[in-house]
Formats: sequence, structure tokens, C-alpha cells
Amino acid sequence: MQFSTKTTTLANTPTSCLVLGVYSNGILPEASTEIDKASSKAITKLLKAGDMSGKINEAVLLHNITGIKAQRILLVGCGKKTEFTLKKFTETLRFTASQLQRYALEDAVLGISSLPVEKHSMECKAKQIAKVFTSSEYRYKETLSKPKAAAKLKRLAIACNIKERPQAKKGLDTGAAIATGMNEARNLGNLPANICTPTYLAEQAVSLAKKNNKLLKTKVLSEAQMKRLGMHSLLSVGHGSDQPSVLIVMEYQGGSAASKPNVLVGKGITFDTGGISLKPGAAMDEMKFDMCGAASVLGTMHALCQLKPKINVVAIIASAENMPSGRATKPGDVVTSMSGQTIEVLNTDAEGRLVLCDALTYAKRFKPKTVIDIATLTGACVATFGDVVSGLLSNDDDLANALYQCGLDSLDPVWRLPLWDEYQKQIRSNFADLANIGGPRAGTITAGCFLSRFTKEYKWAHLDIAGTAWKQGEHKGATGRPVPLLMEYLLNA
Ligand code: BES
Ligand code: MN
Ligand code: ZN
Repeated sequence: MQFSTKTTTLANTPTSCLVLGVYSNGILPEASTEIDKASSKAITKLLKAGDMSGKINEAVLLHNITGIKAQRILLVGCGKKTEFTLKKFTETLRFTASQLQRYALEDAVLGISSLPVEKHSMECKAKQIAKVFTSSEYRYKETLSKPKAAAKLKRLAIACNIKERPQAKKGLDTGAAIATGMNEARNLGNLPANICTPTYLAEQAVSLAKKNNKLLKTKVLSEAQMKRLGMHSLLSVGHGSDQPSVLIVMEYQGGSAASKPNVLVGKGITFDTGGISLKPGAAMDEMKFDMCGAASVLGTMHALCQLKPKINVVAIIASAENMPSGRATKPGDVVTSMSGQTIEVLNTDAEGRLVLCDALTYAKRFKPKTVIDIATLTGACVATFGDVVSGLLSNDDDLANALYQCGLDSLDPVWRLPLWDEYQKQIRSNFADLANIGGPRAGTITAGCFLSRFTKEYKWAHLDIAGTAWKQGEHKGATGRPVPLLMEYLLNA
């Protein structure tokens, strides 16, 4: 989608469709009042007739309005004026995108970009607009014989005043880059596991680096190379699979060589059967999404390559397929991690932490400013937060608070759980330095405790996206979360 800004008076702006807001009880915002006046009260007449009340998810399309240059006006409900939050604004945008799509329009001008949204700047609003409209273009097509119809809308202009224009442009660029990254993450997540293998993920990373020569360096560590590094915990997960495991390392260097990078670590289990601790059959297909942490990291790298901010970011993806077989790891097996700590694998279905711990040890070599791992780690996190909020565990209050705030600002929220010493005893083992499970209680926290044993030397946060990375049901599919949160954090850190 092509985005632009419009600073001309809306009545004089030619377009296929001008989108204006109406608050609850027919209250009109400034831009709508202006058009109402120019069009001999076309909007007031419609409201008086009772055709619209201004609730969210309400829309009316007007044609042949005299006094204005737009061919149509789409009036969209915005809800109560006093409650028009960033969330409501975004909801209105999503609804607008679906309406414009429904009428198969190719271009439109958003008047609703000038609506005041709490304390938020034009940059923030523009970012949200570009995010929503670029996301609305996503179509999964890889494994469909007949692709779904592509989005019709090609050009979107947003109304702003001349002073706001630089802000608006910046917001549009940022939002478009974030959504491009989300769409990449969604697509990787949605691909079936017979296509999206660890090798496939590695190929995607290499191809992104090729397209962004100099800005992005990628290397892929093979099983043999990982063995030499002592990554036996990571390697133990892929033992049962015919697909080789990989560690993908991507270095985005937009800043000076001297500035320390933020490091992202993604869980890339391309399919999680549970291994010998086999999962039950119901909904097991959804375990193709067990690489959504990795997908969000790759998506974020895509977004960075598009936006080119002057920062340094390292991405590490630990990827394997968790399968049962004669060579698979068995409950009770003990493996030695790269850190030297031995791990008793009491449950082969707690494999995410086994691949992450070696990647987290590897992260040390980058002398990171912070390290954030992203993983579909525990069913317990889904039980706690559903699909609304991602779990957050951290050994650093400032980092945790920053991520919390970025979650609110990007509408990709997280909530912190306590990583307290009292929970650590749940992962003790009689036969190794630690066990890979902590019993049925506090599962998200004990998973965090496990990871915390490998992250003592830097500021670290863990995001459990088990509930937020994909949707179930009719709209089953990857969401692209938490790319918005990660971008918000990286661009402000
Ligand atoms: N990938 C799963 C977590 C998961 C389950 C995410 C369901 C989303 C939906 C993870 O590898 C796993 O199997 N975790 C186990 C850990 C347990 C054995 C300690 C779980 O949560 O049941
Ligand atoms: Mn598992
Ligand atoms: Zn898993």
C-alpha cells in the first residue's frame, strides 16, 4: 500500500472516498463538521434521519454529495468522544479497512487521522494507520490452489496539518515497516511444517541478508558446529527428527560498531509433537506454530531492513523439530548444555527451554545491552492470559518496565510474572544440575526459572507468546505478535 499525507482542505480533496468520523449520539468531530458545512448539511441530515448513531463498527456510505470533491463519503462510528482511546482508534481503523475493502475502492483519504486520540501524537496515529492498513493486505497463499482475491485498496492518504506532516510521514514509514515484518512473521507461522523446517527458516534468513547486503549479516550454524560449541541441550531436541537442527545468527548493523546490540532470541520449533512425551492428538496441527518466536524475530529483522534505523540488533534463532523416534531423547536422559550445566530431561515436551538455553549462552559473546527471548513456551501461559496478553519474566526491573510500557504503546501488551527464588526449587533434580520441568504448578514461571539459570550475566527478559502468537477457530492463523512490541522497544531503547 502506498501511503501519503494530505494537507489541503478536505472539501477540495479529490478521492474515491473520504473517510470521516461520527462519535456516539451523532456528535461530529471538526473535520466532519467542516464537510457537513461544505455539503449543505449532508451529514446532519443523515444523522437526523436516524441512519447512524456513531457507535463503533457502524458505517454509512454517501454518494453524490454536492460541494465536495470526493466521490463518496464513508462515515464511520467512533464511539463515545470521551472514550476515544488508541485502542478505539485502532478498532475504528480496522473496521474502516474492511469497509473500504468491501466496496473495492482503490484509493481513499482518511479524515479520521485528525481525530484527537488522548495524548497521542500524529506520529503515533500515523503509525497505527499504516500498521492496520498494511496488515489488512495480508493473504496466505503458499499452499492454496486458488489464491484469495488480493486487496483492492492501493493508495491511502491521511489528513494532517502542515506542521504535523513530518511526524505523519515518519509514523507512516514506521508503521508500514512494522506491518511488513508482522506479515512476514504471520506467513512463516502459517506455513505447514512439511515446508517450514529448520533448514527453510535458515534459507529465509540467508535470503533476507542477501537482499540487505552490508546492513545484515547472517550465518547458520550446522549440527556439527553446534556440537563443537557444546550445545548438547539444543541438539537433544532434534535427535528424533530427520530434519537437521540449526542455529541462525543475524546481525543488523545500522549503528556504529562501538554501540552494544540488543539481542533477540527466538524459539524455532518447526513442529512440536512432544517427542517421546507425545502430545495428545487434539489440535496437534497447531504445533506448527511453535516457531512463532523465531518468526517474530525474523519479522522484526525484515522490519528493521525496511526502516533502516541507526541501531544494532542481533537475532538468534534456535530451530529444531521435536519428534519421537528410535534416536529421540527419552525422559530421564541427561544432557550437558553449552553453559556446562547438566539438565535432566524429565519431559521431552518441555523442549523450548532446551533449545533456548544454549542460544542464550551463545548470546553472551555479543556483549549485549539487553537480551529478549521470544517463545511459545508454555500451555500454562495460555491458561493464564488467553490470547490477549503475552507473559513477561525478567531479571531486570527497568527492562521489564520498558517492555510493559512499549506493550501499551504498540497495543501488543505484556504482563509480568514473578521470577522469585521461591519457585527455583521446583526445577531441582537428583541426577543433574537442573530438571527441565517444575511440575504442574506455576508452569510459566518455572519455565522462566529454567531460562534464568542461563542469563545471569546480562539484562534479560523472556516473552511467553504461547497464547498470543496465533488465533484458533475460524480465523486460525499466526498474528505477527510480538513484532509491534519488539519494534517499539528497539526503536526507543
Ligand atoms: N510448545 C509448547 C507450549 C504450548 C502448548 C504452546 C500449547 C501453545 C499451546 C511447549 O513446548 C510445551 O509443550 N510445553 C509444555 C511444558 C510442560 C511439559 C512442562 C506445556 O506447556 O504443556
Ligand atoms: Mn513441547
Ligand atoms: Zn514447544
